[in-house]
Amino acid sequence: MKIEGYWLASGILGVTGSIMQRVSEAGADAIVTKSIGRTPRKGHAGPILTTSHGGVINAVGLTNPGIEAFADEISVLKDAGIPVILSVFGLSVREIVEVVNIGYTFHPDAIELNLSCPHAEIAQIAHNPELTYEYVRAVKKAVDCQVFAKLTPNASDYVSVGKSAEKAGADAIVAINTVRAMRIDIQQQRPVLGNKVGGLSGPPIFPIAVRCVYDLYNALEIPIIGVGGVTTWKDAIEMHLAGASAIQVGTALLNGMQVFEEIKSGIREYLKEMGYSHVSEIIGIAGRK
Ligand SMILES: Cc1cc2nc3c(=O)[nH]c(=O)nc-3n(C[C@H](O)[C@H](O)[C@H](O)COP(=O)(O)O)c2cc1C
Repeated sequence: MKIEGYWLASGILGVTGSIMQRVSEAGADAIVTKSIGRTPRKGHAGPILTTSHGGVINAVGLTNPGIEAFADEISVLKDAGIPVILSVFGLSVREIVEVVNIGYTFHPDAIELNLSCPHAEIAQIAHNPELTYEYVRAVKKAVDCQVFAKLTPNASDYVSVGKSAEKAGADAIVAINTVRAMRIDIQQQRPVLGNKVGGLSGPPIFPIAVRCVYDLYNALEIPIIGVGGVTTWKDAIEMHLAGASAIQVGTALLNGMQVFEEIKSGIREYLKEMGYSHVSEIIGIAGRK
């Protein structure tokens, strides 16, 4: 699939085929599903969500129905001709290969590897270049479609992790997953979330995502898919200037699905006013100035 346009990010409304189809009808150019694992998983005890400083902290805990039960949801999208990226996770290399072997039979357009959810057991994978290499390499050997590696800003050396993913054959990097965060209830004097720690998303993480996309774009050859706090068309332009070929939108959808059309029309206007004919002309140019 072409790595361009504005996509639904993993985990936000990406659980049932019919809701994902609605997001596509609202203007998303491709849909990334919720991350799916080998077996059904309940997730963390509540509360699993709280708001903070204009963003959201979640500790959902990778709740999902298991890969076998997900075939029907993907086929809703495939039947409607909607590009779909299956997001998967695995608690070991062997397990993620099992998941993609099954998921591949659903014919997704690409597979996104969640190597980095900050409030689940898989949090550490994308902190480690060698482990990241093993995961990406094993999946690339198992399937014959594009594979994207999703990284975390919680790793101090995410550029080395990105380089490892590239060396292992990743077709693109997705940056970033949520930022490890927590809130404390001052009346109860204890953490708000059931899992205590969660992942921050939305506007507060936007500058962090821009930094990561910029660093990765300037160190790697493969395309970067930018995600993190994108809420307006101006954010999307900034993300492209930093180096994102495609952009995913998650938390901004809490304010409505019109966000995709707003981003796309704002970008069309910007390109026209600035004298560009295609968005590809602005990707990564901030790093050349
Ligand atoms: C409620 C919620 C659930 C999420 N679930 C997943 C998930 O299953 N897999 C994944 O890779 N990322 C997941 N994410 C992270 C998003 O895909 C995205 O990387 C992050 O939220 C930053 O983008 P945003 O600020 O546009 O939301 C989740 C985020 C939220 C808010």
